[in-house]
Amino acid sequence: MALFDMRGMLNHAHQHGYAIAAFDLVSLDFLEAIIKAAESCQAPVILSLAESHFEYFDFELAMAATEAAAKRTWVPVAIHLDHGASLQSAVSAIRLGCNGVMVDASTFPLSENMARTKSVVDMAHACGVPVEGELGYVAGVEGEDAEKHPGELIYTSPEEAVRYVEHTGVDFLAVSIGTVHGRMRGEPQLDFDRLNSINQSLGIPLVIHGGTGLSNEQFRKLIERGVSKINYFTALADAAADQIRSNLSAAQTQGGYTALLKGIQAPMQAEMERCIRLWGSDERAGELLAVCQAWRPVDHIIIYNVSEDSDPEAMIAEGRKVLAAIPGVREVFAGKAVKDDAGYRYSWNVRFCHPDVIDSYRDHPEHVKFANNRFRPLASDRISSDFLETA
Ligand code: 13P
Repeated sequence: MALFDMRGMLNHAHQHGYAIAAFDLVSLDFLEAIIKAAESCQAPVILSLAESHFEYFDFELAMAATEAAAKRTWVPVAIHLDHGASLQSAVSAIRLGCNGVMVDASTFPLSENMARTKSVVDMAHACGVPVEGELGYVAGVEGEDAEKHPGELIYTSPEEAVRYVEHTGVDFLAVSIGTVHGRMRGEPQLDFDRLNSINQSLGIPLVIHGGTGLSNEQFRKLIERGVSKINYFTALADAAADQIRSNLSAAQTQGGYTALLKGIQAPMQAEMERCIRLWGSDERAGELLAVCQAWRPVDHIIIYNVSEDSDPEAMIAEGRKVLAAIPGVREVFAGKAVKDDAGYRYSWNVRFCHPDVIDSYRDHPEHVKFANNRFRPLASDRISSDFLETA
């Protein structure tokens, strides 16, 4: 299991002057290529799933595969919701296994951006999950021509950045200093003085969106000025598309879907390895494994009996629904003893994403209401305990 707390990963990168790659994935080919690239470079990596891409894949199914890949690899990884649009998006992403979330309210005026971001931070921090906010506006759409961008780029103001971070409590800040999402013509002009001043006044890991199209020198200067996470997608999508186009060549025209996709991981992997080495996160995996906190779930387990004359079915059905919706809950299992003579006849196994959920779940108004009004009156005989997954 190599899922790690993203705070430790990005703080290490910030302190040691390198950046961790956050590659957006839109299919199993992307996921496998990311893991292969990270393993071959012995690098930490962020498996990033952008809400704007959810029209191309089923987020819930993709998360199951992403989490399985994170568990199987030995390099440190975090799973991140990229460009989350709302509080509910962040709640769902955490339920499905993201251990970092971005809230992108950057198209709203500052006060609205701060209010929306703070509501996500309050919820996510109560679940132990770090949050990336965005201030200023990075125009463009991942995977498309940058010229088609909706809206004009708005640079991050260093003074507003201080207010924004103090007010919201975000752990990482995505800044706008001249990059654009998508395919660029030529090199964008970046405002390195602005970045310097933001980095000096904030001292937290900074994030660059729109990594595609930047030069080696630009990446080096970004990282020198506090950029610790670089989001990258369009160049990977283009590398895959080039391979598909070459598969369309004469010899392959008889082939179907699998023939068209043949070999698309290799060019993506090569581009990812180039980025990882350029950004200095290669051969950092071992160090991070030693200093970062592993990301481990907690099982909140209750075994209980109900009195002879009561039927708990309705209470159990309600609990399943109510408890599963509480932020930080991954899964709710309601069980009945297999054997009639078991000491305890019923169970709850509520899986939390992080130990911080023990307190926030206990105090959550929906839990308090359900426990006091529905569960405890029926289950006077009960034992409960929280169990952290062992290493
Ligand atoms: P590019 O598609 O321009 O590399 O940007 C990716 C990104 O910023 C995802 O959030």
